[in-house]
Order: sequence, then structure tokens, then C-alpha cells
Amino acid sequence: MQASTHTERSPSFALLAWYDRNARVLPWRSPPGMPPPDPYRVWLSEVMLQQTTVAAVQPYFAKFVERWPTVLTLAAADEADVMAAWAGLGYYSRARNLIACAREVARLGGFPDDEAGLRALPGLGAYTAAAVAAIAFDRSTVVVDANVERVVSRVFAITEPLPAARPAIRAATATITPASRAGDFAQAMMDLGATVCTARNPRCLLCPLREDCQAHARGLAETLPAKLAKKAKPQRIGHAWWIERDGAVWLVRRPDKGMLGGMRALPDDGWSARGDGDGTPPFAGDWRTSGVVRHSFTHFDLDLQLMLCQDGEMVHPWPGGPEGEFWSLERIDDAGLPTVFAKVARLAIALR
Ligand code: ADE
Repeated sequence: MQASTHTERSPSFALLAWYDRNARVLPWRSPPGMPPPDPYRVWLSEVMLQQTTVAAVQPYFAKFVERWPTVLTLAAADEADVMAAWAGLGYYSRARNLIACAREVARLGGFPDDEAGLRALPGLGAYTAAAVAAIAFDRSTVVVDANVERVVSRVFAITEPLPAARPAIRAATATITPASRAGDFAQAMMDLGATVCTARNPRCLLCPLREDCQAHARGLAETLPAKLAKKAKPQRIGHAWWIERDGAVWLVRRPDKGMLGGMRALPDDGWSARGDGDGTPPFAGDWRTSGVVRHSFTHFDLDLQLMLCQDGEMVHPWPGGPEGEFWSLERIDDAGLPTVFAKVARLAIALR
């Protein structure tokens, strides 16, 4: 798509001038107007920032770049270590794709430097490829995340509800994307959406795009983007088995395919694959019902019933049970449990 002209009267000019003064300082960024940052850091941050806030990502980003400072070190990492380091960030398919992508980049000898080449890497969708091309390689791509969607739907007063409005929002974004400083422009739009053009109570008086904004002129800013009403989430019920012997708990490795795939976890009754779990303990023993953990996933809410067995009678493997190991409770924080099982572990340790 043709990038627009960047004149003193264009929205991109006003926005970049605002960004020069107000850019958030973030560890994966270069300051405004400076040469692009290391593509590895840009790619890693963009993958982490999908569906996750800047505040939640920062400690994970710091931990990853300290432990794996280059894409080659990440490519050579043990997969289980990367999955464990990702624990708590959610959407674990991102971590599996991260490793696959790092290995492909290592094989290629570096990151491709344009949108099409980046899009062909494992796990890079349209958004991430466009964002990395713009931010790391200064390519004039059209970068649209949820913040940009909000800003653009307001500037152009696009009243059609999401998700149907996406093509119109993308086309409108293309008309204001400049030919140069595309990475700064993309991040300026994100910062504007995060700090000024917020979902509730937009701070229009502080906005560099106020004079360009059709929603502001028509008093519609707070109502956009319009969204179709969300369906209520289904509620599932499951059981997690806390099997303890000599100060250690039995942890399994979940199958690669399926929810939380490849992560270390407590054994459970299959709620993730089948809807409600069947509640059948893995072996006969002295099971104690010990409280419930609530957790919300993207497509359903879960009530996970904790079942404790501390008589040490367990024989492994139980028929059809997944591979596992007894894990010392003193080191439970190092197990890399995904959040739902970390909550169960905290509850079990408090109640036992
Ligand atoms: N969200 C996604 N990518 C981002 C970035 N580069 N800066 C700030 N927020 C973001």
C-alpha cells in the first residue's frame, strides 16, 4: 500500500513530534529518531506483548535477554528451560513457536529484513511481521494492534463494530503511515493508545491528533471502536491431583499438543481436552477434597478442585498416566508451573 506524504500538516507529523517528547522508555526500544534496536530484542518483545501488558512483560523480557542474550543462544536452549522461563506469561504456544522461530533464524543466519520474509517464520502472524519490519528494519509497513485500532477508529470515526471493521481500519492506517520513521510511527500510535487515547476517559485535550480526529469533532471518541457484545464464557469444572511424598509433589509434563502443551503441571482429570474433567482419581488412595481455584482462560472459566493425597501410596506410572517426577516443595517456584497450577500449588501448600 502507498504510504502517505509526511508533511507538516499530516497526522503522522504531529504524532511523531509528540512521540519525540513523550515516548515511553522501554528496554526493547531505541529512543525516538535513533537507529533501530537489535531485531532479536524487537521480535522477542513483540511476541511477549501479544495479549500481555507492557508491565507484565518487562520482568520476563529482562530475564530472557539476560539468560539468552542473542537469537543464537535462544536457538541452542533446552526447550524445557524456555517453557519454564515463560511460565506465568500465558498463551504457551507462543513459547513453543519462539523456540522454533529462533532455530529457523539461526538456520537462516539472521532475521529476514522485510515483512514477507518475517511472515514466513514460525509463529509470526501479520501483526508481528509488520511490527518487527517497521521497528527493527525501518520498513514502512502497516502495523495495527488493539491500541492502533482504537486510535484509528476514532481519528476516522469508523463506526462499524469490530471485528468487521478491521479491513477499513487497516486501510485507514495505511493512509497515515509515513514512508520514513515507520517504527517510531507504529510505536507512537501504540503509546498514544496506551496513555492518551485510552478505552475509557480518553484525554483528548492532550492529544496531538485532536484536530484530525473525526470522533472528537462529533463527540464519539468514547464510544469507539464499537464492539459486538461478547458471548458469556462457558464454565468448566476439573480436578487437580496433589500427590505428595517426603516433601515432594508429583509433577507431570503435559503433552506437546493441546492446552498448556509441553508445560510442567500437576496431573489432572482432563478438563482441558474434554470439557468438564471426569473426577476419577488416578489411583485408589486417601484423597481429601481441599478447596477450589478459579481461573479464567480465553475461551472458558475453570473451577479446579484440589484433591490431596499425602499417604505416599502412589505407584507410578498409573495406567495411561503421563511421564512425571517428584519435585521438591522447597523448589516449587522453580518448576515453571503455568499460572493455574501455580495457584493450585499455593493453595495446597497453605492447606496441607
Ligand atoms: N505493544 C506491542 N508492541 C509494543 C511496543 N513496541 N511498544 C509498546 N507497546 C507495544
